[in-house]
Amino acid sequence: MSHAAGLIVTGGRVLTAVATPDDPLGVRDDAAVVCRGGRVVWVGASADAEAAARAAGIDPRDPTLVRLDAGGRLVSPGLVDCHTHLVFAGNRAAEFALRARGAGYQEIAAAGGGIAATLGPTRATPVDQLAALAAGRARRALAAGTTTLEAKSGYDLTLDGEVALLEAIHAAGHVDLGGKLRGAGPPPRLVPTLLAHLVPPEARGSAAARAAYVAGFADDLIPRVAAARLASSVDVYCDDGAFTLDETRRLLTAARGAGLAVRAHVGQFADLGGAELLAELGAWSADHLEQVSDAGIAALAAAGVVAVMLPAACVQLRMTPPPVAKLRAAGVAMAVATDLNPGTSWCETLEVPMWLATTHYGMTVEETWLGVTRVAARALGRDDLGVLSPGSAADLVVWDTDQPADLPYRIGVPLAHTVVVAGAVVA
Ligand code: NIG
Ligand code: FE
Repeated sequence: MSHAAGLIVTGGRVLTAVATPDDPLGVRDDAAVVCRGGRVVWVGASADAEAAARAAGIDPRDPTLVRLDAGGRLVSPGLVDCHTHLVFAGNRAAEFALRARGAGYQEIAAAGGGIAATLGPTRATPVDQLAALAAGRARRALAAGTTTLEAKSGYDLTLDGEVALLEAIHAAGHVDLGGKLRGAGPPPRLVPTLLAHLVPPEARGSAAARAAYVAGFADDLIPRVAAARLASSVDVYCDDGAFTLDETRRLLTAARGAGLAVRAHVGQFADLGGAELLAELGAWSADHLEQVSDAGIAALAAAGVVAVMLPAACVQLRMTPPPVAKLRAAGVAMAVATDLNPGTSWCETLEVPMWLATTHYGMTVEETWLGVTRVAARALGRDDLGVLSPGSAADLVVWDTDQPADLPYRIGVPLAHTVVVAGAVVA
């Protein structure tokens, strides 16, 4: 990604996402952000910005220097969507219509729909076309202020096919594996994750076939993905109808052995003890958590695992929200993500999840903002994203409002005015 020599944003209400004693969002009025080489180098009062830029080595007459006057608007870190199934083909609108008439998600899945219904179209689509579909979704997310998207594989399920899905993510955009940028695609930053989503239909005939699939995933696929640096973490769908707790342990232990971070979908339908396992393994995140025990919550808190809230999927499936008050009381940090996927949440941007997090999950405006910035970045193992402070990535959004609460409050209204990734204006 090419970035200009420098960027100076002045006149903003800058939400740094770095807490002060009286403000968890660290909002500074009439503030400026100075960026150079794709990084933030300084945040402070607008009146001091030119001097700070010169001190940072920026030549004020450099023709590539970009100056933005925020005009009193809110300026925040670029949003981080830390849970998406970005790469898939096909459409399950017919299932959506059935559910609107009262059919259940697991009932539809048991009848051959659900995740299995996306396999056919995805397997039949060449990698370049899958990349184009993913890039289109990423472009729309970027226009709405999402500058980093986690992106999972998981809709092919064959070992070679899952590698191809990760390759499609690498072809779709600008992959960021922990600060080491890879590929020359367009922004946003894409953070790829290998997902063990389901035992594929062809391995469901016998216990031996199922065990062979899990062994192949753990002992062949995970090391291949790690060696080729195709993903930074491994995710497992640990739930009724997906992987058991023992299988999840086997897969995530292999991931840790291969040097990859771990995370999992746990407790969307049933609590199998996944939260405790993720805490034991030092996971980046535990995602869904509609069903989680008090012991599971305590374990997440003790291990510092981020709880990823996926309210669009939860509401679409008409489920009861996770125990947000208990998570808060225990001190578990909560992120908010889209869960973009063709089955339960074809949601590409974060406005509606932010609205649902506040109105339906009972998160505060401050928790919701941190959930799509600093805490979401933590769920990706990153402390240089989701904040505006010296050394952080120069990813920011100027919003068409001066009120942080406007994002969750104005339901689905697109408020992004200017989007910057790595110091360059991109939308
Ligand atoms: O996160 N829970 C598993 N995976 C997705 C749903 C996938 C699908 O239905 O295609 C989720 O909600
Ligand atoms: Fe998901």
